[in-house]
Amino acid sequence: MHRVWAEIDTASVRHNLRAIRARAPGAKVMAVLKANAYGHGAVEMARLLVGQGIDHLGVGDSGEALELRDAGITAPILIVGGIIPGEMPRVVENGIEVNLHTVQMASELNAEAQRQGRTVRVHLKIDTGMGRLGMQPFEAVPFLHSLRSLRNLELVGLCTHFSSPYEENPAFTQRQIEYFNLAVEVADRLGYGGLSLHASSSLAIWNHPLAHFNLVRTGIALWGLLPGGEEGWEQALKPVLALKSRILFLKDVPEGTPIGYNRTYYTPAPMRIATLPVGYNDGYRTSLSNRAQVSLRGRRCPVVGRVSMDYTTIDVGHVPDAAVGDEVTLFGDGISLYEVATWAEAIPYEVLCGLGRRVAREYI
Ligand SMILES: Cc1ncc(COP(=O)(O)O)c(C=O)c1O
Repeated sequence: MHRVWAEIDTASVRHNLRAIRARAPGAKVMAVLKANAYGHGAVEMARLLVGQGIDHLGVGDSGEALELRDAGITAPILIVGGIIPGEMPRVVENGIEVNLHTVQMASELNAEAQRQGRTVRVHLKIDTGMGRLGMQPFEAVPFLHSLRSLRNLELVGLCTHFSSPYEENPAFTQRQIEYFNLAVEVADRLGYGGLSLHASSSLAIWNHPLAHFNLVRTGIALWGLLPGGEEGWEQALKPVLALKSRILFLKDVPEGTPIGYNRTYYTPAPMRIATLPVGYNDGYRTSLSNRAQVSLRGRRCPVVGRVSMDYTTIDVGHVPDAAVGDEVTLFGDGISLYEVATWAEAIPYEVLCGLGRRVAREYI
């Protein structure tokens, strides 16, 4: 019996993968399992998705890649961000694919691969407007020319990342697609065939079919969400994770009782208050204090007082049969993660990635 746990619905993950495949027919799918698969458990999700014939896995750094390799995952793994030189030996040793951003990075990686007598599969990342990582399109042209001399690197992909696939005006994303197409053309003319071409993350899979190319990278949609809670798409997806806890303590208090740190809440009348063993250490943020609602026996109960490291207090006055040990849903089952993210002044990604180590993961 757990104090706080995440219920992860594996059938919904399979459903979401089918929905993504249906949305991007003809493209292969890379499951982005960064940040412990956005809190869902990277190893468990990798095993599940490999079982569903996923083509590629994406991670954020070499530690995440090696966690999957150590768990026996042999599927292709790409570090979708960037690596630092200290990560190169283990990346090469374990057959991890890497995104290249600079000429220097390419030559250092090539030297390490040469030292180990191996070849590294690399993707060239083009910065078409994200402004975070990647080579500028004009740098990519000479780079692609010279790449052939780096004999221990095998170019297997070309990619970019969109900064605003959710904007109502699609012009910027369209321009990014055009820039990317130019790089694709150059690679083609230089004789690089059979490359994986990838640009779309979840929202672009939905909004920009011209950006599917032959591989799409999806994270949040696998977990049943999209950044803005896009209508229609939401109906095609099923939320995967529900965060739950249970009542640890219950008390009746008179009017005027202060609740929690800093006494941010005084009971306006006699009230029944329940204490839940979940707090910001679990990812239930202080910004949810006096704002969020949770679900108890199918009824919504407001969070009252300030969320602390280990505890959250709720008003259960309108649930007369509430009892110690009762299950409480913080999100899932009628309280959507979009709502929680709005209350928390965060994006759904942050809420999922912020789930703490102490939150038990239960796969159903
Ligand atoms: C480079 C890259 N590709 C794809 C993704 C997946 O994005 P989403 O979760 O919106 O599908 C991410 C996520 O941060 C990313 O950084």
